[in-house]
Amino acid sequence: MLLLAFETSCDETSAAVVREGRVLASVVSSQIALHAEYGGVVPELATREHLRNLQPVAGAALRQAGVRAGELDAVAATRGPGLPNALMIGLKAAQAAAFALDRPFVAIHHHEAHLYSAWVARDPLRADFESFQPNVSLIVSGGHTLLLHVPEPLRHRLLGSTLDDAAGECFDKTGKLLGLPYPAGPHIDRLAREGNPRAFDFPRPMIADSNDDFSFSGLKTSVRYFLQKQPELAEDPAALRDLCASVQAAIVDVLVSKTVRAARRLRAPCVTASGGVSCNSRLREALATACRQAGLHLRLADPTLCTDNAAMVAILAERKLLGGAPPTPLDAEPDPGWALDQL
Ligand code: KG4
Ligand code: ZN
Repeated sequence: MLLLAFETSCDETSAAVVREGRVLASVVSSQIALHAEYGGVVPELATREHLRNLQPVAGAALRQAGVRAGELDAVAATRGPGLPNALMIGLKAAQAAAFALDRPFVAIHHHEAHLYSAWVARDPLRADFESFQPNVSLIVSGGHTLLLHVPEPLRHRLLGSTLDDAAGECFDKTGKLLGLPYPAGPHIDRLAREGNPRAFDFPRPMIADSNDDFSFSGLKTSVRYFLQKQPELAEDPAALRDLCASVQAAIVDVLVSKTVRAARRLRAPCVTASGGVSCNSRLREALATACRQAGLHLRLADPTLCTDNAAMVAILAERKLLGGAPPTPLDAEPDPGWALDQL
């Protein structure tokens, strides 16, 4: 099956082509530079950029894959959750293509795509569902922090989520307090490499709670109060590196501890992590260490698939169609608040 997918839920315009689980092309046009000026994603600007970029990005993906639109067997797009008008661009473009080509269309849940991005192997990028093991899955992005139990492919149960800020939001907002550009996650990651994670003791919210929920707004507030008392620290390069390392350690400790504990409790042999924050080098190392100690297998999403991309959408859509899932009606609307447990 030859399938084209679009992803436009937030600030990346992306198109990808897959054939039999193999990613033939994956093109991502990031709007980060545009939104950085405003310190966050501006929905109207994102929509305009998707409108401007989707056709060239889709054309590039088809060229890279060496296929013509007429050869496609199916078209897919992200339906939600995400920014309403941004979702609308990719969804309606994909439905229009499916209509014109008289091919099936599949609407994909953004987090379900992140979830299965952990089961994509690299060199070349390809679906690797054969290696699937029952797992506890951590999805950490700018908008969401979710913990799921995934006993078999395409079946999952939500265990917990954040009660307030997402982990990525915590990186971005504390980074803003530290004077770092948006999105601050990658900057904190880079600066923390030369900092001392034990220099400052920030709270690890809900780390010892028996439930699977998270909360990160208290950590952000504690960094704010800390900097109000000692604003000079963010100006000092060595202290800034220590601050980044300490904040990052607090976020990572909570994520790793709760994920591994859930896996042990549910006797899942495997842990997976995906979403933008799963690029974080300390999170990847800490998960690897904790899983090794607990005798758990670990699948991390490939770094090229952690942040938003259409390759993960394409792989999941193809898998669904091949598994007999019905196509989505061509008049389906975006679902900006689509919850993963409504699937
Ligand atoms: O999955 P994603 O591209 O978009 C959403 O669906 O939200 O995730 C973006 C988030 C941002 O908050 C960004 O700061 C964070 O992922 N991020 C990182 C790193 N790379 C991206 N956070 C920490 N360390 C990183 N290396
Ligand atoms: Zn995402």
